[in-house]
Amino acid sequence: MPPAERILVTGAAGQVGSELVPYLRERHGPENVVATDLNPLPEALARAGPHLRVDCRDPAAVEDAVRRHDARVVYHLAAILSAAGEEAPRRAFQVNLEGLVYVLDAARGAGASVFVPSSIAVFGPSSPRDPAPQEGALRPTSMYGITKLSGELLCDYYHLRFGVDVRGLRFPGIISHVTRPGRGTTDFAVEIFYGAVEEGRYTCYLEPDTRMDFLYISDALEGAVALMAADGDGLRYRNAYNVTSFQATPEELARAIRAHVPEFEVDYEVDPVRQALADTWPRRLDDGPARADWGWRPRYDLESVVEEMLQRIRARTNPEERRVDAS
Ligand SMILES: NC(=O)c1ccc[n+]([C@@H]2O[C@H](COP(=O)([O-])OP(=O)(O)OC[C@H]3O[C@@H](n4cnc5c(N)ncnc54)[C@H](O)[C@@H]3O)[C@@H](O)[C@H]2O)c1
Repeated sequence: MPPAERILVTGAAGQVGSELVPYLRERHGPENVVATDLNPLPEALARAGPHLRVDCRDPAAVEDAVRRHDARVVYHLAAILSAAGEEAPRRAFQVNLEGLVYVLDAARGAGASVFVPSSIAVFGPSSPRDPAPQEGALRPTSMYGITKLSGELLCDYYHLRFGVDVRGLRFPGIISHVTRPGRGTTDFAVEIFYGAVEEGRYTCYLEPDTRMDFLYISDALEGAVALMAADGDGLRYRNAYNVTSFQATPEELARAIRAHVPEFEVDYEVDPVRQALADTWPRRLDDGPARADWGWRPRYDLESVVEEMLQRIRARTNPEERRVDAS
């Protein structure tokens, strides 16, 4: 067990935050992990420990939250994701970049370290797609990708110029079961499980053969915490390391689910905005540097994720399975 640490999480109500907060509270004590978000937090999260409303676009509010809770580490998850960012590019810019700079300033003032997730969206149409290397052509064409790439550079700048210990991971699509995703391009890889369990069918917004890169939430959380615990001197790419676990198309995901739900049906109604985003992203990230520099090793693969997602979602809708799940 690591020594208890005062931690502040922004964007705690989101897909990643709603699982990162309990994960950190278990390790550091509930009272040491402050959950913040612009929007209301899930009740379980708010009940279990300190929480407050913080809009990361408000520099005074961010600074006050970091200082008041004497945060030693900030996990800055507040963001506008890819599809939402195409609907509101200006808002994505404000939250993803202005919000980031306020968090970095607050951390600098308080001497806190910072974790900032980046994304597979930093790559663009001119990047190699399978695998996308750690370094190379990074010319994203979406507002989300542009803010995430600029964010990586900003984080490097704050490290080099001001000595802020800021680190990040480039996440591919994250699959999880507590909070539904926030309008990204890979949401189908979560929604498809709810479709399978609740309705026996799902309409996918991407072409059946669109290959995308994924990570299960447990690996994402463990990766973030492992990176923050790593010796900073050994980090060649602190902002930000490629990480990945497995790749799949909607059709392959559906086939893997059908091994457990044989009657599951999928049809396709392509959303041109999200298809265009998916078509500019790599099919797979090269996570070699993360493996070499700080021991990145994901535990999940396609089959184990399908099993776990189906079990978790069924447990939520079926009390009999919930008892099994809790035992
Ligand atoms: N989920 C994925 O597949 C994925 C993939 C790659 C990278 N990421 C990155 O991981 C981080 C977390 O993503 P997520 O999936 O949990 O996103 P999400 O959309 O589920 O959650 C983001 C949270 O930020 C909050 N927020 C929005 N504007 C805010 C503001 N102005 N001030 C404070 N909070 C605000 C939202 O209320 C939401 O709870 C983001 O940086 C995202 O770019 C996620």
